[in-house]
Amino acid sequence: MCGIVGYTGKRKAVFILLEALERLEYRGYDSSGVALLEDGRIFVDKKVGKIRELIKSLWGKELNATTGIGHTRWATHGGVCELNAHPHTDGQGRFALVHNGIIENYRELKEYLLSRGVKYVSETDTEAIVHLISLNYEGDLLKAVLKVLPMLKGAYAFAVISSMEPNRIVGVRYGSPLVVGLGEGENFLASDIPALIPFTKKVIPLEDGEIADLTPDGVSIYDFEGNLKVKESITVHWDLLSAEKGGFKHFMLKEIFEQPRVVADTIKGYISRDYELPFSLKDFRRIVITACGTSYHAGLIGKYWLEKFVGIPVEVSYASELRYSDTPVGEGDLVIAISQSGETADTRFSALSAKEKGAVLLSIVNVMGSALSRESDYTLYTHAGPEIGVAATKTFTCQLAVLFSLAISEHPERENLINQLLKVPNLMEEVLSKAEGIKEVALNYSQKKNLLYLGRYLSYPVALEGALKLKEISYIHAEGYPAGEMKHGPIALIDQHMPVVVVAPKDRVYEKILSNIEEVLARKGIVISVGFEGDENLKKLSKDFIEIPQVVEELSPFLTVLPLQLFAYYIADYLGLDVDQPRNLAKTVTVE
Ligand code: F6R
Repeated sequence: MCGIVGYTGKRKAVFILLEALERLEYRGYDSSGVALLEDGRIFVDKKVGKIRELIKSLWGKELNATTGIGHTRWATHGGVCELNAHPHTDGQGRFALVHNGIIENYRELKEYLLSRGVKYVSETDTEAIVHLISLNYEGDLLKAVLKVLPMLKGAYAFAVISSMEPNRIVGVRYGSPLVVGLGEGENFLASDIPALIPFTKKVIPLEDGEIADLTPDGVSIYDFEGNLKVKESITVHWDLLSAEKGGFKHFMLKEIFEQPRVVADTIKGYISRDYELPFSLKDFRRIVITACGTSYHAGLIGKYWLEKFVGIPVEVSYASELRYSDTPVGEGDLVIAISQSGETADTRFSALSAKEKGAVLLSIVNVMGSALSRESDYTLYTHAGPEIGVAATKTFTCQLAVLFSLAISEHPERENLINQLLKVPNLMEEVLSKAEGIKEVALNYSQKKNLLYLGRYLSYPVALEGALKLKEISYIHAEGYPAGEMKHGPIALIDQHMPVVVVAPKDRVYEKILSNIEEVLARKGIVISVGFEGDENLKKLSKDFIEIPQVVEELSPFLTVLPLQLFAYYIADYLGLDVDQPRNLAKTVTVE
């Protein structure tokens, strides 16, 4: 959802900005640009396409600036073209600005600016901010920004530089993420921590309503009234290696293979004998889970576990639906918001509105210091490390690890269940060791236009997740469905051309799903199944059978999802698609 970066220090800014932008490219990748304070003037270069287009354009240029800002765009207002790419400048080239988010009242602002004789050249909402700053500038960039903020409506983060104040960047956060990085004689700004990993581990994640004023020698944080704030920095533990591809062709593949390790890391945090929740789950009358996309699928699995082990009703809602619904949520409810980024607007705002109505807000988040983690009453972190591939994989299984640990935290059988959970990382390794076989199966289906994914009970959300993975990275239409529900409609789709992926571990609904497979076969559908090793019945019914090791029924999603992630990956890679940065998507969705 756009990435913004800033650097001020002693080194050549262009190199730092480009490296940071490449690390943020997963946030948006339709165009990019930089603005550099070069000899008292602002130099701007922007290009349509990936960051490499910008790098090519800057290649060989003698750029010595030590202060600058950069941007990678995921278009919201205005098509994808150089004119709409960021940074945007005022007419006189005195200011340059990069922005992430949406300025909802930009049409009014544009009218006003046009009436003041401003030449508005792009179709973006962003351009309004830079013109307003220019009109309100009286020799101090921070003061100009403070005057403009009350005029802006929406959710945004932006960074601005001025040719008249060569070693200064002002960054603002209101609804979209922005993190300050602290160095020695240099300071940084970025939308997300991974962009800063090569440069510093000391960061200050800004809160909504904060402004950072950066020079090479220091960073001051203010509120929107201009009052100085005292903020502590935090040290991030993610290392550079975990943000690199490490020999894998794509981040997604590397992240799939990291799962046994990061799931083990995540489990460790929640299984010690003296680990105690700050409250008792049984004190709540109900749990409401709110999340989007893959995190929502983790929530659906969490529901089964929480209902089984805690015994209170759990509702799972798409965050974008919950927020505007009349679902009564409030006192007596525990709201669990699940989000890898901790910045997803729908998830944050649905959770916050429940919190305002009296619910206790617990979040499950991967990014330390993210907005959701700060806004929650309690946060349980997934220790997945940075997830760079746009399609979520390792954060999904780490979310499952947290949800399972949470669900069993007060259960009398906790010890036993933990022992089962501790076996999971090795079993995941076993599944991944068969990746080549899964690849062979996947490639049989790379030319298909539609696939159906079926599962029941805990495997139903896994089927949804498998279908989501395939759609988002291979652009093949795939539909996840509860297997028992198929006969109420989707069965009409089945003929000899339709591949049906069936997730069928031996669990309480195993016999039922075998009958559902028979229904598919009776209509000549092509069955690809994921089931326990040695399951001859399933194998006989399937054109392709993917084996996973046996595991107790509750823990099967940790294993069944892995072949589906690989299945989607190998098809997308075979089709030559951009697996890590699929079209139209952004890793962090900070707009509603
Ligand atoms: C799918 C995917 C998205 C995210 C969704 C929520 O692979 O990555 O569906 O799961 O945008 O994002 P977070 O978890 O950051 O709130």
